[in-house]
Amino acid sequence: MRLDKLLVNMKYGSRKEMKAVCKNKQVTVNDEVIKDSSINIDPVNDKITIFGEEVIYKENILLMLHKPQGYVSANKDGLHETVFDLLEEPYTRLKLNIAGRLDIDTEGLLLLTDNGDLLHDLISPNKNIYKTYLVRTDQKFNPDSLLKEFEILDGKNNPYTPSKPFIEKINDFEFYISIKEGKYHQVKRMVEHFRREVIYLKRVAYGDISLGDLEIGKYREI
Ligand code: URA
Repeated sequence: MRLDKLLVNMKYGSRKEMKAVCKNKQVTVNDEVIKDSSINIDPVNDKITIFGEEVIYKENILLMLHKPQGYVSANKDGLHETVFDLLEEPYTRLKLNIAGRLDIDTEGLLLLTDNGDLLHDLISPNKNIYKTYLVRTDQKFNPDSLLKEFEILDGKNNPYTPSKPFIEKINDFEFYISIKEGKYHQVKRMVEHFRREVIYLKRVAYGDISLGDLEIGKYREI
């Protein structure tokens, strides 16, 4: 990979800026000052520094993050913090996309990747990936009602029949639900259909990836 491409990809600046930075002797490759930004480097095995700071190259990353309530699943939000505010270097330098957003008041497992093919596979309805949620309702509720066929509204307010979920009752107020779609407010709307309100929602698994003991607000590479 060209040195300038690596530095641009890792958000140190534009190609033109990287040319100037190299000319100013602020970039080293394997401890040697490199003035030509167009040279080829091995991003994995070469040690590259810019402004005295090591460049940690990352690619094809899948991060699992334990989203806290109050964070928006978006790149930018004028009002609230976003899940990207939880990340630190070098992950802040990557173009990460969210696979399956969570509502601001939902917590739990969020997957982030810079790999477009993986993103597509994770969110494609044809891949039948089940997402599992822990649900708490405001009143007693028999979650087996959710196994009936019924309609809710999707994100564009079009009627929609959710496919049959898997249900595991915990007690009169709590249950696990696994759904394969990810429509807007889907779990809340499914429960609302039966005149109950979801007062706590947490995604505990995405396909065969489980949240496990990952602390709230923390993330790790998988
Ligand atoms: N269903 C919801 O209603 N909200 C979420 O955040 C995820 C699934």
